[in-house]
Amino acid sequence: MREYYIAGNWKMNKTAAESREFAEQLADALEEASVKLMIAPPFTALESVSSIVQGTNIILGAQNMCHETSGAFTGEVSADMLLDLDVTAVILGHSERRTIYGETDELINQKVRLALTKGLEPVFCIGETLDEREAGRVEDVVRTQVTKGLAGVSEDQLKQVTIAYEPVWAIGTGKTATPDDANAVHAFVRSLIRELYSDAAAQAVQIQYGGSVKPDNVRELMAQEDIDGALVGGASLKLEDFKKIALFKK
Ligand code: PGA
Repeated sequence: MREYYIAGNWKMNKTAAESREFAEQLADALEEASVKLMIAPPFTALESVSSIVQGTNIILGAQNMCHETSGAFTGEVSADMLLDLDVTAVILGHSERRTIYGETDELINQKVRLALTKGLEPVFCIGETLDEREAGRVEDVVRTQVTKGLAGVSEDQLKQVTIAYEPVWAIGTGKTATPDDANAVHAFVRSLIRELYSDAAAQAVQIQYGGSVKPDNVRELMAQEDIDGALVGGASLKLEDFKKIALFKK
């Protein structure tokens, strides 16, 4: 049985003080959760949130990371800088990074491999746009993203990787893929992992769904065979909503 993994991507929201206060509330509210939990505050709040989640059931994630280890990369944050703050997970290849900042599959692959070398657990995001879906290209797009994004990642390293399937048209829009449609893509991703690695790797890999996950749709999504968790944006900023999502099994 794969464990469920629920992650909150706070995106560019909350100051350090606001993040600290919210993380304190979450740590209390989520004590009884029986899933793996991660929150990813903005970089500027990682330090304040880090001390709060220490010793709780919540792991600390970053929303991005530089593809190089150090040097002349103005505005970037390195893996070592994240490790320094006890960050354990890092979201890579989010569609906002791909579309707004032009991140390519090759760049994301460099980040994924570097994160793994450094001992950070990547949450590796993939997903098609509405145009791609309407053109019947979902499997093509996802195949390319998975194959290129995981190039050079060994089967052993893959154990540290979570894949997040986030159809771009469902992010922040209130539109969710139907549980069946989402599960079909998840099953396809799992079959790709079988093809690229092994049946054992395919069985083990956790695949999160992301895109307008809310308290009222989380149960149905999580009931799908190949959906193993959620990467939550908007609803992760609301205490009651994230609590209901994280405690969906209750
Ligand atoms: P959303 O964002 O839950 O607000 O749709 C999901 C994400 O971008 O990770």
